[in-house]
Amino acid sequence: MSEAKRQSKGPVRGYFFDKSVVVTGASSGIGHGVALAFGEQGAQVALLARRRVRLEELARKINRAGGKALALDCDVTDRARVFRAIEQVKEAFGRVDILINSAGLLISDPVEQMRPEDLEKMMAVNVFGALNAMQAVLPVMRKAKSGSIVNISSLAGRRGVSPLGGYSSTKFALVGMTEALRVELFNTGIKVSLVMPGVIDTPMARNALKHDSLKGVSAMMAMPARWVTWAVLAAAAFGLTEVDVPPGAAVAEKLGSLFPGVTDALLSVGTRIMRGAGTLMEGAGKPEHKAKS
Ligand SMILES: NC(=O)c1ccc[n+]([C@@H]2O[C@H](COP(=O)([O-])OP(=O)(O)OC[C@H]3O[C@@H](n4cnc5c(N)ncnc54)[C@H](OP(=O)(O)O)[C@@H]3O)[C@@H](O)[C@H]2O)c1
Repeated sequence: MSEAKRQSKGPVRGYFFDKSVVVTGASSGIGHGVALAFGEQGAQVALLARRRVRLEELARKINRAGGKALALDCDVTDRARVFRAIEQVKEAFGRVDILINSAGLLISDPVEQMRPEDLEKMMAVNVFGALNAMQAVLPVMRKAKSGSIVNISSLAGRRGVSPLGGYSSTKFALVGMTEALRVELFNTGIKVSLVMPGVIDTPMARNALKHDSLKGVSAMMAMPARWVTWAVLAAAAFGLTEVDVPPGAAVAEKLGSLFPGVTDALLSVGTRIMRGAGTLMEGAGKPEHKAKS
């Protein structure tokens, strides 16, 4: 489609036409894809993250695609700023129908070496950031007696894995908070969903895979971000309680929790194999190594 035609495209009457959607972490990865998908369905999308230039680029894309976007630079750990941002969304769109909590931070390290301040940083974004956004939108949704909140946790929020112990604990916390909120909001018209992705090909995963223990995992093994986009849109559309990416991962997790000792042993062996494979791959990549062999 030519740029001129794209510019002239009117509002799209898709499934989420005219819905007011807030997406945190919209400047990158999953949040970026989710925000664009809502925009392409004709939604009014508020984009929250710290990198304003990226948000403005995405806002232009969404407006061209027939949606309506509002770029709001917002650090989700700054509670007052989050509440102000939601006020700005109400002023611009009149209400908030859907909140997607995608902002997240991952710092990988074995628990033994993890710096407490890194865990605090992750807690601030992954748990308190999500809490801030939920508490800011809930009065609006309560008044409307409807709404949908989708929190993106992780399969690492159901089973601790190394070297993601700190990250896992923040995602466990988010799961607990989300489940409790779902009970509190039972029968209020407000739906609360969890999306639980495995490894997804985004800057976060690519960065994490640089860690020594994960170097054997290729980014090619990661699932495409659009799988999570579909899961989030389905969760928001149908008020689904929990969606795993890939589907069925919960079954493996439930089986694993029946035999925790065996699961620990399998994961420990798996981690060692990956570390070994990573070391081999690194060695193979070095010219001096190749010359010797
Ligand atoms: N990728 C995976 O394998 C995977 C797997 C399971 C779960 N998840 C979860 O999926 C969500 C999205 O991750 P991703 O893979 O898309 O990561 P990503 O590409 O690194 O994106 C992270 C997003 O979070 C935002 N963010 C970080 N700190 C923030 C803060 N203080 N305030 C506001 N925004 C902040 C970043 O924006 P700015 O830097 O511009 O602020 C960015 O938009 C996260 O919650 C992550 O834990 C990811």
